[in-house]
Amino acid sequence: MAVRIAREAAETARRMRAEAITDVETKSTDTDVVTAADKAVERQVVDALGRERPGESVLGEEYGDSAGGTGRVRWILDPIDGTVNYLYGLPQYAVSLAAEVDGTVVAGVVRNAATGDEWTATLGGGAWRDGRRLGGSARTTLDQSLIATGFGYDAARRRHQGAVLAGLIAEVRDIRRFGAAAIDLCLAAEGAVDAYFEKGLNPWDHAAGGLVAAEAGLRVSGLDGAPAGPDMLVAAPPAIFGALHDLLVRLDAAGGA
Ligand code: IPD
Ligand code: CA
Ligand code: CA
Repeated sequence: MAVRIAREAAETARRMRAEAITDVETKSTDTDVVTAADKAVERQVVDALGRERPGESVLGEEYGDSAGGTGRVRWILDPIDGTVNYLYGLPQYAVSLAAEVDGTVVAGVVRNAATGDEWTATLGGGAWRDGRRLGGSARTTLDQSLIATGFGYDAARRRHQGAVLAGLIAEVRDIRRFGAAAIDLCLAAEGAVDAYFEKGLNPWDHAAGGLVAAEAGLRVSGLDGAPAGPDMLVAAPPAIFGALHDLLVRLDAAGGA
């Protein structure tokens, strides 16, 4: 059901962009754009879940927590992850939808609305793309690793993130910044990058992609044993997790604004 709803939502996003409905507003800062499509897609998913799963709550980026959910299930939705790519027509933006039971993510789907690439996972059931089970990268050393990351919208946060990057870039093969956290996590899950980290993520950025990465065998957590959260999310195969983690601690990657 989640896959079907995410596909329909992705089609709405794609169609609205094709029709050039951009109606840009500014949100927290004037580089954080929210388009009519973000809102329309979220509304569509909330309505679909309301019909198919009445009584379950939904946490979405644009409209927040839906009222009335009383049960154990909560859906977590980023209607368009990669809004800046969407705005510029770069084919790296996705619908990210996850289901949580009693606070644990049990199912997730990330659908790239521009390309149709789709990643899914269920808790204990593995991570999948096009019928292929994902197993992450087999890389074992950090200096050979391609690392994806992202940056927040706030200037003070970005300054610190830039400083962390300056310390990191000489220690790894290279850096990638694709612009959609949910897709970054899925690319790490399939080994298209070796690992991913970012500070400042919200639940809707990483709920679905985080499960995809974990089910592909990656370690997904914060620093010093903390769970993944707004301070830091690191997703890396066990063989390189420790080295990346320790470098991020040394660079105070969870610090700053
Ligand atoms: C953003 C993207 C970006 C990441 C930011 C997110 P949005 O989400 O995932 O890659 O670096 O931290 O806020 O605003 O495009 O949904
Ligand atoms: Ca997002
Ligand atoms: Ca978004």
